[in-house]
Amino acid sequence: MKKVTKIFALLLVLALALSLTACGGKKEESPVGAVEKIQAKGQLVVGTSADYPPYEFHTEIDGKDTIVGFDIAIAQAVADSMGVELKIVDMSFDNLLMSLANGEFDMVIAGMTSNEERLKTTDFSEPYLMSKNLILVRTEDAGKYTTLEDLQGAKGGAQTGSIPFDRCVTYCGAETSVGLAKVQDLIMELQAGKLDVVFLDYMTVLTYAAVNDNLSAVDVNIPSESKGYSIAVQKGNTELTEYINGVLEQLAADNAVEGFVVEAQQLAGMEE
Ligand code: ARG
Repeated sequence: MKKVTKIFALLLVLALALSLTACGGKKEESPVGAVEKIQAKGQLVVGTSADYPPYEFHTEIDGKDTIVGFDIAIAQAVADSMGVELKIVDMSFDNLLMSLANGEFDMVIAGMTSNEERLKTTDFSEPYLMSKNLILVRTEDAGKYTTLEDLQGAKGGAQTGSIPFDRCVTYCGAETSVGLAKVQDLIMELQAGKLDVVFLDYMTVLTYAAVNDNLSAVDVNIPSESKGYSIAVQKGNTELTEYINGVLEQLAADNAVEGFVVEAQQLAGMEE
């Protein structure tokens, strides 16, 4: 009887020892880091709103619809640095941060700037490029809008959920401001005379003005407190944010972003 108890006790000790090793072993593998997780799935999933040339937009390459732009080139550099494939998910700008919070992508790059409101729910990388807002008007109206005061009461349009939309409401007035989900619809309404001014980021304004004779870019000195465009990541994912900052630093050291911009402008139909 005694012998049996002894063996049982020994077995128990052995079992405990084994489970401790198992525990210890597990601890070494986990917690799996944010970057390791992306590497394990082999894909960096990036959310964007591909209606914003030259930041991100659709174009035909070898007869195939493709999303290109300098933001996409930056996202590609992050994916390359991780050694994974880049997967782009295109959706309305207004839904990007919610979908990011829901875990639908690893990061968002969309000509997006951080502000206090967005920082409540989202983390942002260091800025990779300066930001500025311009307005787009019909060429025949270009002389009409030279100062912010001239905008009061104008029929203004901007993308829903964007910072330019807030500016539009501030300077045109809430009654005459319209938010639309897609930038291309804003351009159509402007050309059709249903809108008088469209608020967008400067490079998008410059692109549309360059490729459409009937549209012109105007700088009315819209004030901005933004530091520049940043990549958005899920709140609290410091590891990924820091990793991205490292890639951005490297790109800056190589002056790579300027090259991406020039290439994207050419793809968007802007001549040098
Ligand atoms: N810079 C503006 C913002 O952060 C607008 C960006 C719009 N981007 C786009 N891909 N449509 O709100």
